[in-house]
Amino acid sequence: MARAKIALIGAGQIGGTLAHLAGLKEMGDIVVCDIAEGVPQGKALDIAESAPVDGFDAKLTGATTSDAASYSAIAGADVVIVTAGVPRKPGMSRDDLLGINLKVMKAVGEGLKAHAPDAFVICITNPLDAMVWALREFSGLPAQKVVGMAGVLDSARFRHFLADEFDVSVKDVTAFVLGGHGDTMVPSVRYSTVGGIPLPDLIEMGWTSKDRIDAIVDRTRNGGGEIVALLKTGSAFYAPAASAIQMAESYLKDQRRVLPAAAWCDGVYGLNGLYVGVPVVIGAAGVEKVVEIRLNADEKAMFDTSVNAVQGLVAACREIDPSLA
Ligand code: APR
Repeated sequence: MARAKIALIGAGQIGGTLAHLAGLKEMGDIVVCDIAEGVPQGKALDIAESAPVDGFDAKLTGATTSDAASYSAIAGADVVIVTAGVPRKPGMSRDDLLGINLKVMKAVGEGLKAHAPDAFVICITNPLDAMVWALREFSGLPAQKVVGMAGVLDSARFRHFLADEFDVSVKDVTAFVLGGHGDTMVPSVRYSTVGGIPLPDLIEMGWTSKDRIDAIVDRTRNGGGEIVALLKTGSAFYAPAASAIQMAESYLKDQRRVLPAAAWCDGVYGLNGLYVGVPVVIGAAGVEKVVEIRLNADEKAMFDTSVNAVQGLVAACREIDPSLA
């Protein structure tokens, strides 16, 4: 059987890390694309030269996707991961990126429509929920084949902080973060567990306190900003790349992992067509199921606030680009 083809659009910090991880995991042949000349070719060659050392088989190539025709580089891709755009600088919110990155989504979406209409597409570009919506609109791909990566990352941050708090293995901590990928995201305390024990029970058992969990929830919400403030020149890339790779693997290997992702919600969670973070099952058909978990009144209120924030960003996209209206 031919190897899978993985196209990475954006060869920056996340794109380069994605290419390296996809190579190390032998997920398929990899084409790294960027508007810049030389960067995708250079990163592809550098990683290809690490393959003999690490012992992996993957063909890595770089391509400059600066106009519509050059998107032929992604032809026949099984998975496309999109990081093209600009990241945050200190003091910027994800929403500040909207105008610039919307134009990028248009170019990428048209490239997908022309050259990779059967791909499973994972968008990472921020502001995530609005950008994945725009990418789906511009590409015209089926909604179950276009998904945004945020929940796996936000949950991983939550899990890391919880594992630290309880001084246990990250492997034994599960967590869910719902809603939009912004300050209004909803880290779910009730559905997060250590060794299968929900956090509220752990508070009752005296292993931690409500205040400490509240602080961890806050830190999770601001997890991206914490990294931006430290790096000063860009935003997080190792954990975002690892998270998208997990989603891509679930699709390519039909693993049917249950992962939080920005997915098309129509007739679930009281929504009539919106991309927002919810638990989904990812298998060979893409997003095969949206898992509708029961929210209590507090969680529902937080989720609704987050949904409102995403709806505001989608409305702003429609204003900027009337073809989306
Ligand atoms: N087509 C292809 N590539 C593009 C385009 C375009 N139209 N516009 C920009 N790019 C490329 C840039 O040249 C750059 O190499 O996208 C790459 C982005 O890389 P970085 O600036 O290093 O950003 P990164 O940290 O990888 O984050 C990418 O993911 O998490 C989000 O907020 C983040 O939106 C940002 C994205």
